[in-house]
Amino acid sequence: MEQLAMFGGEKAKTVPYSTGKRFDGNELKYLQEALEQNTLFYWSGSKVKEMNKKFAAMCGMEYCMATSSGTAAIHTALGAVGVTEGDEVITAPVTDMGSIIGILYQNAIPVFADIDPHTYNMDPKSIESKISDKTKAILVVHLAGNPADMDEIMAIAKKHNIKVVEDCAQSYMTYYKGQLVGTFGDIGCFSLNEFKHISAGDGGMCVTNDFALYEKALRFADKNYTRLEGGGTGRNISYIAPNYRMNELTGAVGLAQLERVEWICAQRRAYGDKLTEAIKNIKGLYPHEVREGNTSSYWFYMFRLDEDVLGVDTDTFVQALNAEGVPCGRGYTAHCVYEYDLFKNKSAYPGTHAPFDSPYYGKEIDYPSGLCPVAEEVLQTSIRISVNEFYSEQDLQETIHAIEKVANYYLSQK
Ligand SMILES: Cc1ncc(COP(=O)(O)O)c(C=O)c1O
Repeated sequence: MEQLAMFGGEKAKTVPYSTGKRFDGNELKYLQEALEQNTLFYWSGSKVKEMNKKFAAMCGMEYCMATSSGTAAIHTALGAVGVTEGDEVITAPVTDMGSIIGILYQNAIPVFADIDPHTYNMDPKSIESKISDKTKAILVVHLAGNPADMDEIMAIAKKHNIKVVEDCAQSYMTYYKGQLVGTFGDIGCFSLNEFKHISAGDGGMCVTNDFALYEKALRFADKNYTRLEGGGTGRNISYIAPNYRMNELTGAVGLAQLERVEWICAQRRAYGDKLTEAIKNIKGLYPHEVREGNTSSYWFYMFRLDEDVLGVDTDTFVQALNAEGVPCGRGYTAHCVYEYDLFKNKSAYPGTHAPFDSPYYGKEIDYPSGLCPVAEEVLQTSIRISVNEFYSEQDLQETIHAIEKVANYYLSQK
């Protein structure tokens, strides 16, 4: 039995994880071209336009519009599909606040569906159980590069005549039964923030096949101004909309990043799938499940522990892995989104309980602990390790070795 590094043994990880340059493609060239245009405005320059065109083509969608962030893309999509004060939007309890912010800024009410214990995506049965006469939309989060159950979710949406917005911020080149996520619902949203598969510093994208939604999204992200030809005077404002425009510099970097997105996702897919192959037979461990027929681009990899079988708690397992030289942490976020003070205190806006007490809503809603028991359990008993396109075969093998070593140690202690 190998001695754990935590108790003075050799570390499983013998070299630092490999790194690489993220911005050494055409970024500089396109940035220079953008500056030479003498305009950085998306409607006058060519970079954001080209980015939209290429992104739409990559997704096989008709229309694409760039925004200043993923949060902005989701808010824009919700605004475009008509989410407004008093509506409910069903979404995931394990996600980034960027999924939730747009719902609250529309003065709508987030309603949380529980998740699957092994894919960590929204459970269609739970979604359906949360539908009410107030439900306007489902905001599907494809967590960590892994697709949600889109057949079931689209069938529910159709049956109840509700809109579907897909949050693909963590899920580039993610296929559900051979079809890219972001192309199932009314609008698909992506993020180009620093930590995503591709980065333009910040930025977001919305894709749709519906021209009317495209037009609404364009207006929503641009102060409700109309710039499309034949769009009227353009400045007769009938409802409030923010400025979420992408600028030409962001577009230039985004365009260059798009040229490598397939490679990045292929590397990550291979890494994550091999990790699963290697750990799936270890007693007491459950790999990050990708359903048959789907693919994941693993924004992160999160496996679960059966603490009783292994005879160790998740925090100790994390400590042991860290000591082996594998950086990791428990859960993705520490808590479900609804466990934040914002929801406990209903304090989205300082000094008020809006939108939760809106007369347009007219219902009581609470967010107690235990609301989504599977999600809470997942965050207590899962370990997230990072995946990166630059990681080497040695990184993979040493990571696998570390996980096996820690698991086997605790299994042998029972
Ligand atoms: C699932 C999810 N949705 C939305 C967002 C928001 O994206 P951005 O940070 O670009 O606003 C993120 C980013 O962390 C995310 O992971």
